[in-house]
Amino acid sequence: MTRAVVRFDTGGDLPAPNVDMTATLSTFEMPSPILTASGCAAAGRELDQFFDVTRLGAMVTKSIMMEPRSGRATPRIAETPSGMLNSIGLQGPGVHAFLEQDLAWLRERGARVIVSIAGGTTQEYEDLAKILRTQEGIDAIEVNISCPNVADRGQVFACRADSAAGVVASVRRSSDPSIPILAKLSPDVTDLATIAVACERAGADGLTLINTTLGVVVDTDTMRPALAGITGGLSGPAIKPIAVRCIWQVREVLPDIPILGVGGVRSGLDALELILAGANAVSVGTTVFRDPSAPLRIHSDLAVALADRGFERLSDAVSFAHREPDLDAVEVDEPEVPEWL
Ligand SMILES: Cc1cc2nc3c(=O)[nH]c(=O)nc-3n(C[C@H](O)[C@H](O)[C@H](O)COP(=O)(O)O)c2cc1C
Repeated sequence: MTRAVVRFDTGGDLPAPNVDMTATLSTFEMPSPILTASGCAAAGRELDQFFDVTRLGAMVTKSIMMEPRSGRATPRIAETPSGMLNSIGLQGPGVHAFLEQDLAWLRERGARVIVSIAGGTTQEYEDLAKILRTQEGIDAIEVNISCPNVADRGQVFACRADSAAGVVASVRRSSDPSIPILAKLSPDVTDLATIAVACERAGADGLTLINTTLGVVVDTDTMRPALAGITGGLSGPAIKPIAVRCIWQVREVLPDIPILGVGGVRSGLDALELILAGANAVSVGTTVFRDPSAPLRIHSDLAVALADRGFERLSDAVSFAHREPDLDAVEVDEPEVPEWL
């Protein structure tokens, strides 16, 4: 690991720094560590009007299910301080239309692609994995397990180690063994580390941390919940410390597992924070609604921030915050010894 020198100059108008920004998630190598987040940029067509989506580490597509779905009732978006609450409810065209329209377009465009899948039963995840196995142009699969299990009273798969691991094992079994699968976990659990370890043992090649965290907004004019579905997933800057906490906790128990960090990233320094906590790459979600070009800006600002801190390679910064404190580098004032000692 390159020893970083911590400096506090910002780099100003320096030319593009010479930092190796290659990021890897298991066997999937990307020229940039900045990806989109599932559900926040559809399949990339709209973003491509703002910048060339092949410059992204990868497009992570909206979670796809077997059948078309219209999602939950409206209203399904509410603003919150430093974030937003959504209850879109996995609206989508179903896997066959996705393959014909979206995946075909991404392949033609030459973009790297992580396909996100979701299901109401373990069988549905397995069926989706078998269909994806027949397709070209998929670099990895993200398994969104923050879905209610219809066979278990609507308990969310990601909230229990056994149900999370069950889905991961069936997707791993049914997928092309050369394609990495990432299990996307929910922060709404008491023991994330145990669930992460269960997913890894079940065959996950990596983890995506985190999905949204549940919230409720009450409209003080109507004096009713703002969302028709009452609860929604909170995203945006408000959840960044939760994402960093989850990445940190999982990195402590699984030092080598690839982690795709996501949650509240708006700037290069936000991305750096997730990387220092243990993320190998970073997805940008809610921010792209306000600033569609954010992924490119975040990539460049991250490169500058890494260079400023003496890193020659992005990979050297991954988990860097977990090192022991360098006591020699810290000036500590001798505490005054109280007289009564
Ligand atoms: C409108 C919206 C739709 C989303 N849809 C999905 C989805 O289909 N699948 C999924 O795994 N996550 C979905 N997410 C969660 C994001 O991928 C991401 O985990 C979360 O928003 C946190 O990142 P952010 O704070 O950068 O937005 C969605 C988030 C938003 C805001």
